[in-house]
Amino acid sequence: MNHDNYVIDDMISAKAIAARVESMAADISGHFENTEKLVVIGLLRGSFMFIADLVRELSLPVEVDFLETSSYGDSMESSREVRILKDLRGEIKDRDILVVEDIVDTGHTLNHVLQLLKSRKPARMMVCALLDKPSRREVDVKADLVGFEIEDRFVVGYGIDYAQRNRNLPYIGAVRFTG
Ligand code: IMP
Ligand code: MG
Repeated sequence: MNHDNYVIDDMISAKAIAARVESMAADISGHFENTEKLVVIGLLRGSFMFIADLVRELSLPVEVDFLETSSYGDSMESSREVRILKDLRGEIKDRDILVVEDIVDTGHTLNHVLQLLKSRKPARMMVCALLDKPSRREVDVKADLVGFEIEDRFVVGYGIDYAQRNRNLPYIGAVRFTG
């Protein structure tokens, strides 16, 4: 199959994303209402657009940090083995933290990241994911807050890539091969 020939089917519009992000931010702000400071942790690179929009809607004092794990490379298949490529800059012990992920797919990435973060003994931890593909799950892990549950299709846009492309789309679409 020639992987250069594909089209992107519209799936979630920029407007629908913005509305959902606003309501997720309201839930998060309510949950952490009395926090001294919330450390918002984006998982690179897929969550960069989501975290940028999300923090602008939070009515809390926040700090932003990033963690990068090894990715699929240019493939559509999960490697299942997760490595930390870039660790947090700050300490999270006794801090309130919010983990921000783009998609939970097989669950291996989130599972690995959550074990690592929990071992550092944060005060309260909440996990939010923009997208969730529950039918793909291989390990039992769940985000506390999910933007949209989607069917098993490979998606791009709003930060999410296919072979590093299409991250800049303002909406979410599904990849469909044509040749
Ligand atoms: P998991 O470890 O299989 O749950 O994979 C999670 C990571 O794989 C996500 O953070 C994404 O970076 C990537 N991923 C999963 N599904 C898709 C997709 O449909 N399009 C692009 N990247 C994806
Ligand atoms: Mg990711």
